[in-house]
Amino acid sequence: MKKAYVTRLVPQKALDMLEIECQMTVNPYDRVLQKEELVSAAYDAEGLLCLLTDQIDADLLDKLSRLKVVANCAVGYDNIDIPACTARGVAVSNTPGVLTETTADMAWALLMAAARRVVEADRYVRDGKFKAWAPMLLLGQEINHRVLGVIGMGRIGKAVARRAAGFRMTVFYHDAYKMTREEEQALGVEYKEMKDLLREADFISLHVPLNEQTRHLIAAQELKLMKKTAYLINTSRGPVIDEKALVKALQDGELAGAALDVYEEEPSLAPGLAELQNVTLAPHTASATVDTRTRMAVMAAENLLAGLKGKRMPNLVNPEVKLKS
Ligand code: DGY
Repeated sequence: MKKAYVTRLVPQKALDMLEIECQMTVNPYDRVLQKEELVSAAYDAEGLLCLLTDQIDADLLDKLSRLKVVANCAVGYDNIDIPACTARGVAVSNTPGVLTETTADMAWALLMAAARRVVEADRYVRDGKFKAWAPMLLLGQEINHRVLGVIGMGRIGKAVARRAAGFRMTVFYHDAYKMTREEEQALGVEYKEMKDLLREADFISLHVPLNEQTRHLIAAQELKLMKKTAYLINTSRGPVIDEKALVKALQDGELAGAALDVYEEEPSLAPGLAELQNVTLAPHTASATVDTRTRMAVMAAENLLAGLKGKRMPNLVNPEVKLKS
């Protein structure tokens, strides 16, 4: 049986699948492994089921010399050096599609929590400050009929845009790929240049993958263009926003607030971010439902098993690699 290493405990259904078809070991600790720990635990593995918290770089690949298959349990795979994998004949897969709706729900949960100050309100009640209904207490912003700006119109961006219809919002989007007129009409969205979207939207939600084009896509200049009453929501990847610039912009009142699920130096926060009242923070849990995390793990396991058998992985991201059975 081929050997596989699972870098963190994932839903049992996926482990059961792996156990039948390969010799599997799971990280026994409830934490991310250090690189040296991963090297010594997975030294003889041909397959790795890993997470976005594992950095799969050239150095690690050289140390895990038997590795043939890396199944990332995430749709984003910026934690993996794909060219380094391809150069070493290591096939890589991700988990697209199965977390789309769940992530879109969370983008909306954050948007609504920020606009209606839900987290502040919760703290206010718990702190025993709620004495009576008050006409000026914790006033937030309307969502209905406002303008939503979606940056990155892939699967998740589209799912976020679809939900805006219930709020009768105007939806603008920006993406490297402009949809056809028919596609735009079907979704009820209008393409905007980046600067126009930043200037006109009341809520901006980010849905781009992290790469060299999108790193610091939202930095000081972009934040300055936003309305002072606008909110920024990020469920994509932390480095898409220059987080220090965001803290400064929030401190200076250049935008009304932000709601973040991801951070530039995850899990650390930029200095000053946690002290701000006008931010809502989540610990990278946009896909965190029982069903979705199970679907992600099962999909990663299916990919891993296919790869270990030398078959084409269903969600292969580097098709240049041809595995041998
Ligand atoms: C992903 O899949 O890329 C998310 O960030 C974690 O669900």
